[in-house]
Amino acid sequence: MFLRNCWYAAGWSKDIDAALLPRRLLDEPVVLFRTSDGSVAALEDRCCHRAAPLSRGVLEDGVVQCGYHGLKFDRTGACVEIPGQAHVPNDVRVRSYPVVERWNVAWIWMGEPAKADAAAIPDLAWLDDPAWRITPGYLHLNANYQLLTDNLLDLTHVSYLHKRTLAGDPREATTPQNMEILPDGVRAGRWMLGFKPPPLFAAAGNFTEDVDRWQFATWHPPSVVYLDIGCAKAGTGAPEGDRSQGISMWSNHLLTPETDTSTHYFFSFARNFGIDDEALSQLLYEGSRETFLEDSELLEAQQRNLNAGSIAGLHNIRADAAQIQARRMLDTLIAAER
Ligand code: FES
Ligand SMILES: [Fe+2]
Repeated sequence: MFLRNCWYAAGWSKDIDAALLPRRLLDEPVVLFRTSDGSVAALEDRCCHRAAPLSRGVLEDGVVQCGYHGLKFDRTGACVEIPGQAHVPNDVRVRSYPVVERWNVAWIWMGEPAKADAAAIPDLAWLDDPAWRITPGYLHLNANYQLLTDNLLDLTHVSYLHKRTLAGDPREATTPQNMEILPDGVRAGRWMLGFKPPPLFAAAGNFTEDVDRWQFATWHPPSVVYLDIGCAKAGTGAPEGDRSQGISMWSNHLLTPETDTSTHYFFSFARNFGIDDEALSQLLYEGSRETFLEDSELLEAQQRNLNAGSIAGLHNIRADAAQIQARRMLDTLIAAER
């Protein structure tokens, strides 16, 4: 069961062009494309004639022609031409979905089109700000999206799962996180003062000594998580707000259910230092991808042990507080929508 009246990331803007891009979203076949005016459109990827995927057809002047018998559909889903037939009945159409491009992301509304409100797209301004450099990536995950939300709201797993890539100081494992319930989400985070920096941060910020390190994850329903992460030379005032002796990044995670047991995972780091340093971009892209692959492999194995991502009947521990709140909030929203 998915929340429908909300925005999901359908793709990074850079990955959507004039080619027809098929993508299963919330267990529905969707085809994405860029029309002649440059905007992104989304149609049901299922022809209303004989159910051929429209993505196997062609796009010409913003009109999709089905590759089976040649029916043509405009971006609203209306059929505009039937070969060998002068009259096109009004009800020959496929479903179209509202799409808004913002923050270098194409957001799709899978619920009632009349309720689509662009103001509800979460504020991720750093993804589209020249002062920040982003390193966007994509992973396909054979696991329910909520398992990934759980993962991102629990910072303690870093010490165990990311020993090789992210873990810096052994004390991280037992540093508790604080949780805060927001009107539209959950925030969880912690400070680690005078800790050894993790390898990726040490390399990105040239740290050779101990650092004051922060991690604050914010979740907005249904499945956007961004983390304010970074570290500064220990004792230089970062906890009081002076981050000038350190590096900060936004670690962004846009999760879109493909099916009950698979997820489109759009990730990126955004940084406001060394923004023209291509080697650093490469380091951060490769480093983040390697880390998120560690998560993905574990979550896929977890999914094989679970039924559709449900954690019912399993034991909770103290570190689960934020993910439990997020699951509760989402359950309430889904129940209200139904
Ligand atoms: S199935 Fe699309 S035109 Fe026949
Ligand atoms: Fe992780």
